[in-house]
Amino acid sequence: MGTDITLQNVWFHYYPNTQAKENWAVKDVSLTFSQGEYISIIGSNGSGKSSLACLLNGLFIPSEGKLFINGTAIDSDQDRWEMKRRVGMIFQNPDNQIVAPSVLDDIAFGMENLGVTREDMQIRIQQVLQQVGLTGFEKKEPHHLSGGQKQRLAIAGILAMQPDVILFDESTSMLDPDGRNSILQLMSELHDVGITVIHITHQASEAFRADRIIVLHQGSVMLDLPKKSLYANAAQLDQWGLDVPLSIQLHQALRKKGWQVSDKVESEEQLVSELWTLM
Ligand SMILES: Nc1ncnc2c1ncn2[C@@H]1O[C@H](COP(=O)(O)OP(=O)(O)OP(=O)(O)O)[C@@H](O)[C@H]1O
Ligand SMILES: [Mg+2]
Repeated sequence: MGTDITLQNVWFHYYPNTQAKENWAVKDVSLTFSQGEYISIIGSNGSGKSSLACLLNGLFIPSEGKLFINGTAIDSDQDRWEMKRRVGMIFQNPDNQIVAPSVLDDIAFGMENLGVTREDMQIRIQQVLQQVGLTGFEKKEPHHLSGGQKQRLAIAGILAMQPDVILFDESTSMLDPDGRNSILQLMSELHDVGITVIHITHQASEAFRADRIIVLHQGSVMLDLPKKSLYANAAQLDQWGLDVPLSIQLHQALRKKGWQVSDKVESEEQLVSELWTLM
């Protein structure tokens, strides 16, 4: 069935609340995240990305507004516990997510709380190790792994709990280029097998890998665009300081110069074929 998450006019402030409502961390956010989507959330420091992430996995409770899973309102602690299982979270610092002295125990940790049987655990551990490319690493000590490998271990631990959604909160920002690429690649693979991927990032180049881009600013949603409408909305992307991909910039520049390039272009491939017809 999967997990569709809906936020309906959600507001959030940190306790104790001494701030005017206009300064709350999350302001009147209404969004739906459907099973299988690949979404990026981008915004400057303090724009509310992490607060939103914590609302999405049940760690925080909306100060105002409602949250629904598959149409059912999330009200009780039991509901929120179930949300945490369905929505896994990967954080920024690879070192802060290690909980056990071996790769095997680290992956087993989350499953222990779910009451998974020993046999089932062993099967799942092998599956997730393969999924994240760490087969054969069972006995290794996590602190000997590279940053990218540590993040992949954290992802393995989440995958072993069989979530529907994985939220990545700037999970690539502390990695070297190899580590970063391996995590981006893994996000695409997880999306390919039907997991909802929500990637919070500061990097426009990473954000534009997703199929849908959400821009947050001072706690509010400023833009929520499917990838195919990015060409038509390049000016708005510019306005929010996003470093738009070269093909979108080119499309915009050619139109400004008066070239007869269609405003219906939705992808790089379409832009290329448009250009061929103009040659
Ligand atoms: N633990 C906290 N206590 C009080 N205020 C907080 C806390 N964490 C965040 N805030 C405030 O809430 C607002 C949103 O912060 P949040 O961490 O959600 O933003 P962010 O977009 O994730 O930022 P960053 O890019 O720096 O990670 C900011 O004004 C921030 O100062
Ligand atoms: Mg943050």
